[in-house]
Amino acid sequence: MKILHIDASASNAETSHTRRLSNELVERLKADHADATLVYRDLVADQLPHVDMTIRHAWLPENADDPALVETRGRSKTLVEELKAADVVVIGAPMYNFTVPSTLKAWIDHVSIAGQTFSYTAEGPRGLLTGKAYLVISSGGIYSQGPFAANDHLATYLEAILRFLGISDIDTIRAEGIAYGPEQDQAAMARASGQIGALSAAA
Ligand SMILES: Cc1cc2nc3c(=O)[nH]c(=O)nc-3n(C[C@H](O)[C@H](O)[C@H](O)COP(=O)(O)O)c2cc1C
Repeated sequence: MKILHIDASASNAETSHTRRLSNELVERLKADHADATLVYRDLVADQLPHVDMTIRHAWLPENADDPALVETRGRSKTLVEELKAADVVVIGAPMYNFTVPSTLKAWIDHVSIAGQTFSYTAEGPRGLLTGKAYLVISSGGIYSQGPFAANDHLATYLEAILRFLGISDIDTIRAEGIAYGPEQDQAAMARASGQIGALSAAA
């Protein structure tokens, strides 16, 4: 089993909820699958540039020998190959301003490449990826239900883009409402850990 583990929290390993939980999940997967191999991407420590048209140009066959596009093509290809090779993708994603951190959005822009991870057909777009994704998300407020549910552009967006790319088997683990106080923070983390344990046991 090939695991691609991605973290996008600007907080460090000690303070970040998503880093702690995504790590816990990956450790459980490794414990459950003796053959597991891991590729790890910290999108904050190693930030990707914002998308520009060189990424599109770099993938065009007629530009294959363009020396100006070597670096962009190499980076984008590495990211796409990592994702294509993964059986399981684990994404740790805090909510920033109702959606994904821009570091994670940059990764999505680098890997969502027509002809590589999705294609357009006469019937519409078709995802070219397979496999499973675990989303480990955290937010100060509560968005899974209640009055702010309509503001969730994090889980809904990540699930939508992964499905668009062909990954439809998605489990989403939430630690939410962590800004409501230390007790709510602890309870949310315990619930999320419990969810990870249950997922792992069922895998
Ligand atoms: C830049 C920034 C923007 C944030 N925006 C939101 C938000 O829109 N809604 C929310 O509920 N929490 C928001 N938060 C709180 C985080 O989602 C919350 O602290 C979460 O636990 C962060 O995950 P982490 O601990 O893995 O870094 C924001 C935090 C930061 C740093």
